[in-house]
Amino acid sequence: MATIIDGKLVSAAVKKSVADEVNVLKEKGITPGLAVIIVGDDPASRVYVNNKKKACAEVGFYSEEYALPADTTMQELLEVIDVLNKRVDINGILCQLPLPKHLDEKAVIDYIDSKKDVDAFSPVNVGKIMIGDYDFLPCTPAGVMELLSYYNIEVEGKECVVIGRSNIVGKPMSMLLLHKNGTVTVCHSRTKNLKEVTSRADILVAAVGKAEFVTADMVKQGAVVIDVGMNRKDGKLCGDVKFDEVSEKASFITPVPGGVGPMTIGMLMKNTLKAAKLHNNIID
Ligand code: GUN
Repeated sequence: MATIIDGKLVSAAVKKSVADEVNVLKEKGITPGLAVIIVGDDPASRVYVNNKKKACAEVGFYSEEYALPADTTMQELLEVIDVLNKRVDINGILCQLPLPKHLDEKAVIDYIDSKKDVDAFSPVNVGKIMIGDYDFLPCTPAGVMELLSYYNIEVEGKECVVIGRSNIVGKPMSMLLLHKNGTVTVCHSRTKNLKEVTSRADILVAAVGKAEFVTADMVKQGAVVIDVGMNRKDGKLCGDVKFDEVSEKASFITPVPGGVGPMTIGMLMKNTLKAAKLHNNIID
């Protein structure tokens, strides 16, 4: 039976260290500020945004929410971002995705000042990650790296297989594993002999978006299995990994919920703190 990786515990540790630093900043008159924009009424996005605001309060950040109607125009949304880009009390700007179909997600992300792009989604920040010279790391992949580090799981020289090639998780995840000298393979819907590839993995990251897609026959005995999935099955939250059978074979495994999910928010807090320090010329 695998060791179950406790994302809530590690996220609490990350938030505690952010909160400690915020206390020091506040003595200098600096309070990190995060603006969260949500367009429309997607219920999952609403839960994520509420959790992000709650975490801001926990670590001592100032936060603002912009809840815009589903029929908001591109111009209206960009005007909100424009004001936030210019405000000195706002260090981080986050626009919750997905946006309603009529809005151009890429253009919206690009419009956020890259120095306030605490999601690290903008082309500038993605490029910086590629060359290993970054201020912000994308929250979910960075959260996975934090979990591996907390549990002393070495990446160097390991066969790392990422299933999924999204811009938010799969692609940046592969880059962060590569930075730690893993041997990285990225699989996707067109990958041939998927099971053969995933069975080689010492570290397997599932970011497919399909409930219980990864089964025990796809996993090597003793592998570390990281489940980034957030799916609903029969009304219940479940990941991309068939937990009951895969946990019998893995050495470490993340549960859903309580694994990677809480880490995403912890890393968002870390990025916002970093933004506040950069904007105030505080260098670690
Ligand atoms: N939608 C799903 N995950 C994320 C995330 O990490 N950031 C934003 N902005 N939207 C998301």
